[in-house]
Amino acid sequence: MKGQGMTAQASSSYRSRIAGTGSYLPEKLLTNADLEKLVDTSDAWIVERTGIRQRHIAAPDQAMTDLALIAAQRALEAAGTTAQEIDFSLCCTASADQPMPSAACVLQHKLGARPVGALDIAAACSGFVYGLTIADQFVRSGMYKNVLVVGAEVLHRYVNYKERDTCILFGDGAGAVVVQRAKDDQESKVYSAHLAADGSLGDLFILAAGGSKMPFSQEVLETNSQYLKMKGREIFKNAVRTMSNLCQEALDANEMKMDQVDWLIPHQANLRIIDAVGSYFGIPPEKVVVNVQDTGNTSAATIPIALDEAVRDGRIKRGQNVLLTAFGAGLTSGSLLMRY
Ligand code: UT7
Repeated sequence: MKGQGMTAQASSSYRSRIAGTGSYLPEKLLTNADLEKLVDTSDAWIVERTGIRQRHIAAPDQAMTDLALIAAQRALEAAGTTAQEIDFSLCCTASADQPMPSAACVLQHKLGARPVGALDIAAACSGFVYGLTIADQFVRSGMYKNVLVVGAEVLHRYVNYKERDTCILFGDGAGAVVVQRAKDDQESKVYSAHLAADGSLGDLFILAAGGSKMPFSQEVLETNSQYLKMKGREIFKNAVRTMSNLCQEALDANEMKMDQVDWLIPHQANLRIIDAVGSYFGIPPEKVVVNVQDTGNTSAATIPIALDEAVRDGRIKRGQNVLLTAFGAGLTSGSLLMRY
């Protein structure tokens, strides 16, 4: 489906640069062996169908913004900047601490940031690509110089540990980046971003209760509507098709070939989805950043966590071309091509 994503491309003299990355994964692990005790599944099935071996689970007293806080502090430190210098912050999440106030406001307070604008992005697993696109636009327009973008989730609290098709997938975690205006001698830039959403397929992946349409009630609990529900196989097919299309759009928009991309960082939902997107482009597996085996699907946090890991261990270097792509509930999707 060409032309599916609305494009944001370079148009001003300002460029944005990811000045620092950070991430945080809670200590507690939920392994496949643990899940074997909860539902009718096996380590072999989970590894073969998803590649996942373990997920990190937040402690009972950890809220989503507690994870986000640590990731944000690490990103600020890596950027050599402080919370006081942040001009705007975006919190990308599907598991905010509560409906109101927003996670971005809670995080701003915990960080000790100035009372600058703070906004949640509700684009589920695509949230970070949406957030980074918005941050880039703010920097590019000249409006802000330092934008914090966090993708963080405590999704395990929305998982029914009696349903084997969902409970094997999700974990908790947070990743963050500080997006800054690049200096003249810094070559980083976002080439383009391509965002899409198809609300007609919203029922494929849904958390029905807790909003104004279905507030919490005894009926919610009796029907397990407080938990994530997903049509896995359809989501799988849509994910492969949409992420592949949006990556192709990114390449076409910049007249690039996949061999000019140094790293592909796809949303970490399932190793078979990642492999299918990679093989669509014939990109060698060693150029694809993968950590789903150790984290499970952390929704909006997968890409910033994977990015942070690859930056910190030296795989991703300045000047390299990095292609991000994500897909999630909504259905939302996006790709973003940047020179790191
Ligand atoms: O962030 C985006 C959100 N989500 C995703 O990206 C998830 C996308 N989907 C997936 O990752 C996969 O569809 C799943 C991992 C959820 C399921 O894998 P699948 O290969 O699509 O399996 P399936 O749903 O077609 O089910 C095949 C069989 C079924 O049994 P029958 O009907 O063939 O007897 C399921 O009941 O596997 C069964 N099954 C399981 N068996 C053991 C489903 N879950 C499990 C399980 N352990 N955990």
